[in-house]
Amino acid sequence: MSHRHPEASRGVWVAAMMADMTTVSAPLGITGATGRLGGRIARRLADAGVAQRLLVRDPARAPRLPNTVVARAAFGDTEAVAEALAGVRTVLMVSASESADRVAQHRSFVDAAASAGVRHLVYVSFYGAAPDASFTLARDHSATEQHIRASGPAWTFLRDNMYADFLPLLVGADGVIRGPAGDGRVAAVAQDDIADAATAVLLDPDAHAGRVYSLTGPASLTLTEVAATIAAVTGRPVSYHEETVPEAYESRASYGAPDWEVDAWVSTYTAIAAGELATVTDDVRRLTGRPATSFAEVLRRSSQ
Ligand SMILES: NC(=O)c1ccc[n+]([C@@H]2O[C@H](COP(=O)([O-])OP(=O)(O)OC[C@H]3O[C@@H](n4cnc5c(N)ncnc54)[C@H](OP(=O)(O)O)[C@@H]3O)[C@@H](O)[C@H]2O)c1
Repeated sequence: MSHRHPEASRGVWVAAMMADMTTVSAPLGITGATGRLGGRIARRLADAGVAQRLLVRDPARAPRLPNTVVARAAFGDTEAVAEALAGVRTVLMVSASESADRVAQHRSFVDAAASAGVRHLVYVSFYGAAPDASFTLARDHSATEQHIRASGPAWTFLRDNMYADFLPLLVGADGVIRGPAGDGRVAAVAQDDIADAATAVLLDPDAHAGRVYSLTGPASLTLTEVAATIAAVTGRPVSYHEETVPEAYESRASYGAPDWEVDAWVSTYTAIAAGELATVTDDVRRLTGRPATSFAEVLRRSSQ
């Protein structure tokens, strides 16, 4: 149940529940709302009564929320992004799905946002983003951050550790987590905590301009401890088997994935081994006013 926005020349739709055009005169621009993290954030902002413009690739899959305009705009579509962001002051930029040209898509989006007059970009980055990070995708996040810093608008970076919600996906069908993580630790963070932190930033962006937040869970776990926690909460036997780096490439070769993707998979583990995902921060509590959620609690909630 949506209808064509009268002012739209392409791809802009108004959610049927939108009550009053005046409430969207300076909306927040939100990307990734059809996904897990962006969807959580959009729902929280709607609950807070905030007007939003959701930039999505497929409007049919956009969440239906009050005071919300939905615009079709993939990151790489400069014209659609600029049109969708006209009149938008602050944008949440959820990093795009992994692809060989993701950084180019990010740069294109940032340039289009800046040229549309956006004044503040809140970017969902990765913990320890740096040009020489072990995790190859953290280098891409660093390149995106550098582009944003040079682009003009104010910025805030939310550098998320590994999603705690995703750790169960590391477990193979045989109940084993395999990878070259040694006995390194990971301070994985709940997506609900990131969503609460991002919402706090988006509700008062000026207070967070020029700030980098490193969002982690409340504890740093080895993969042996991750496996034991999954086993304890789910009752299913789970263990961790340490691979060497050559073994890790060998065991993933059968997927036929491109080199950049296999490098990303393997370096998830080598980054843990190197201690680059280990340090717990207080940033979730600083932004949300409450402690970060434990991994066991994330598992319990997801099984409810
Ligand atoms: N920290 C971690 O452990 C970790 C793990 C995995 C991923 N990530 C990153 O975190 C992001 C958010 O995670 P998530 O769980 O919310 O992922 P998700 O559920 O896959 O959602 C990704 C969202 O981004 C949108 N998107 C992807 N590529 C896009 C593009 N080129 N242009 C416009 N929109 C695009 C997707 O739109 P569609 O619905 O149209 O696909 C979707 O709404 C991921 O995209 C990825 O960059 C982080």
